[in-house]
Amino acid sequence: MFTLAHISDLHLGPLPKAESWNAYFSKRAIGYLSWRLRRRKIHDPRVLAALTEDITRHAPDHVALTGDLVNIALPGEFHNAATWLKGFGNADWITLVPGNHDAYVGVGWEKGMGLWADYMTGEMRMPGARHSVENAAIFPFVRQRRNIALIGTSTALPQSLRRAGGSLGREQIEALAHILGELRQKGFYRILLIHHPPLPGQAHDRKALSDSTHLKQVLEHEGVELVLHGHNHVHMRTDLKTRHGTAHIVGVSSGSALAHKGMPPAAWHLYRIRRQDGEWLNETIVRTWNQSTQAFETEAEFVLTN
Ligand SMILES: [Fe+2]
Ligand SMILES: [Fe+2]
Repeated sequence: MFTLAHISDLHLGPLPKAESWNAYFSKRAIGYLSWRLRRRKIHDPRVLAALTEDITRHAPDHVALTGDLVNIALPGEFHNAATWLKGFGNADWITLVPGNHDAYVGVGWEKGMGLWADYMTGEMRMPGARHSVENAAIFPFVRQRRNIALIGTSTALPQSLRRAGGSLGREQIEALAHILGELRQKGFYRILLIHHPPLPGQAHDRKALSDSTHLKQVLEHEGVELVLHGHNHVHMRTDLKTRHGTAHIVGVSSGSALAHKGMPPAAWHLYRIRRQDGEWLNETIVRTWNQSTQAFETEAEFVLTN
């Protein structure tokens, strides 16, 4: 049995002060206003603290975090998020992939996502898998935990003013095809981590993954047991038929949100994965924030087989 917690879209606050007003030019000015007027009331540090407590109490073997740690990509936000990560757990225990807010505007690797590199580095060597921590070209990477393989990808690219989309790019998708094929042959339970919902039509156009059609072809061809994503801030669950069984695609709500305007409160997912009678069995629970009891509670349970 291997247990995995999935969290996403923490949107850590409060926003730190920028080093200079120059930082608020560009897209950040809009993002800053959006945070002050709306988002800071939605993403509640007390909810996030309760979430980390609830996960710690369940003591999962591993944690997957699918991006949007920060909001407008200020250097201070990357620094704060690195401190938060260290406080929650070490890089062996948490696997991270970035989201569009982590690339809200272009930030140099060393002052930006590079501060989180330990959490985004793979150790499994195979064609297509990256290992370097020196620059942004560290995706896709592969980590092995017993007979589970975690594949980390990045869809995080700076977007124009009104867009929150993302792309994997041809190189990453082709590498992914090699990786999924090799891991399948070796008998691993393959978990793909990606910030954006991976299939066409799963997000509004301006928020969507631009190369979802290409990715879907690769998933159908090579198979994958589980795809975990965030971005939409709602629980989502879809099955995709592949040449190698069913791929389960599951999105999790934001890890820090209060319920607002039809959007659900924070949640996290706990996967219990085991091999039984030659089949993969994955028992999943959804732990959701209950505002009246001020605690996370099990809202749903389901079993995934491939
Ligand atoms: Fe988000
Ligand atoms: Fe996002």
